[in-house]
Amino acid sequence: RTGSKFVVVANRLPVDLEKLPDGTTRWKRSPGGLVTALEPILRSNQGAWVGWPGVADVDLDPIVEEGLDLYPVRLSAQEVADYYEGFSNATLWPLYHDVIVKPEYRREWWNAYVEVNRRFAEATSAASAEGATVWIQDYQLQLVPKMLRMLRPDLTIGFFLHIPFPPVELFMQMPWRREIVEGLLGADLIGFHLPGGAQNFMYLARRLAGQQTSRGAVGVRSKLGVVQVGFRTVRVGAFPISIDSGQLDEISRRRSIRHRAKQIRKELGGPKYIMLGVDRLDYTKGIDVRLDALYELLEEGRIDPADTVMVQLATPSRERVDSYVQMRGSIEQTVSRINGEYAQVGRPVVHYIHRPIDRDELIAFFVAADLMLVTPLRDGMNLVAKEYVACRSDLGGALLLSEFTGAAAELRQAFLCNPHDLDDVKDKMEAALHQKREDGRRHMRALRRQVLAHDVDRWARSFLDALAKHGVAGSALL
Ligand code: G6P
Repeated sequence: RTGSKFVVVANRLPVDLEKLPDGTTRWKRSPGGLVTALEPILRSNQGAWVGWPGVADVDLDPIVEEGLDLYPVRLSAQEVADYYEGFSNATLWPLYHDVIVKPEYRREWWNAYVEVNRRFAEATSAASAEGATVWIQDYQLQLVPKMLRMLRPDLTIGFFLHIPFPPVELFMQMPWRREIVEGLLGADLIGFHLPGGAQNFMYLARRLAGQQTSRGAVGVRSKLGVVQVGFRTVRVGAFPISIDSGQLDEISRRRSIRHRAKQIRKELGGPKYIMLGVDRLDYTKGIDVRLDALYELLEEGRIDPADTVMVQLATPSRERVDSYVQMRGSIEQTVSRINGEYAQVGRPVVHYIHRPIDRDELIAFFVAADLMLVTPLRDGMNLVAKEYVACRSDLGGALLLSEFTGAAAELRQAFLCNPHDLDDVKDKMEAALHQKREDGRRHMRALRRQVLAHDVDRWARSFLDALAKHGVAGSALL
């Protein structure tokens, strides 16, 4: 059997296929931190990556490169609608994010999810050498662990969920709850960001999995960190993800970036305070919350539109899903309302960009911002908060951070707020803008200690070490 000893499986490949206006295509590297973190491990293990190239209806052969092979999985346009936009992003995404919008449970979406997960399992089996280690990523592929184990009992299988795992009461809405829990239990190690998610999952595993065995017995026992499924042992744990903090720190110190940051402030009209939001345009991110807070602070005269601007960089995302279309409309309306009432000609209060933004430009914005606004209603981790901190070697700036993010568990010295409590958001925003310089430096120093010590490499290593310890013998990676 040929194939790789280390295989990463994710809905998306680390590169996106881009269709150009003239009908030709080219590859574009996706900026995700996951690739950066895993690349050294992939390369030293002759690794492979299985994923969708981001465009419907394209048939591609595996791309064999030195050290890293890519295995594209084909999705039809109908499957993009049913598996990706439907079940993944209009059922699982809202259900796992506290039902901020109502999840839709449609049988044809579920059928497509099963079908596409099977295709990923088959492609992964083809890409994996005997005894390989396979690491499956995220909510789009929760059935793959079990499907793959049935095809290939020789593999060591890990799974990591990048979004929150919901409370038991919410998960129980899912018509296919048992299939999903059993799908995940095909892994040797299941990772979550937070201990709470791991605990919710373990409770559900005990309650749902194996209930209908032929002997009528409940085939699952669990204690903290371990679920027994028949003769198999599945480990469950918390592994909070991070960023390549060292690299961001280095780039943010470059002269070109410092220069660009100063220029950005000038281009914004030289305000005293720059507030910044950076998000995928998603209803979980609480972009509306920070806009509402700003509006009321302006109304009450607690923020002066003459010396304060807000910049919202919003990357387009999942643009054909209904709830995303609606949210975009309402955010753009709020931006207009604020500017309509408080802007001067040539001096908007809110600068809103709805386009992808280049990495170095983004880093310059982080360096320029006096207050970073991270106000999700629910977020598995939120890497933007960590990126901001990594870019502030000057110890300037402040971070407003929602308690409902995974990052809040680690970034305790931020201005933590409850995004459901608008008065709290407003008070913290004001306090963060007006904190004493010395206090700000002290907070930032503590935040940086945390973020620089816990980088994405450490995250990947700790997951893979735990997996090697508990998977099939001899599966350790280089
Ligand atoms: C979140 C998910 C990822 C996903 C990303 C971008 O971070 O956890 O799995 O890839 O959003 O979303 P998209 O739908 O464009 O892949």
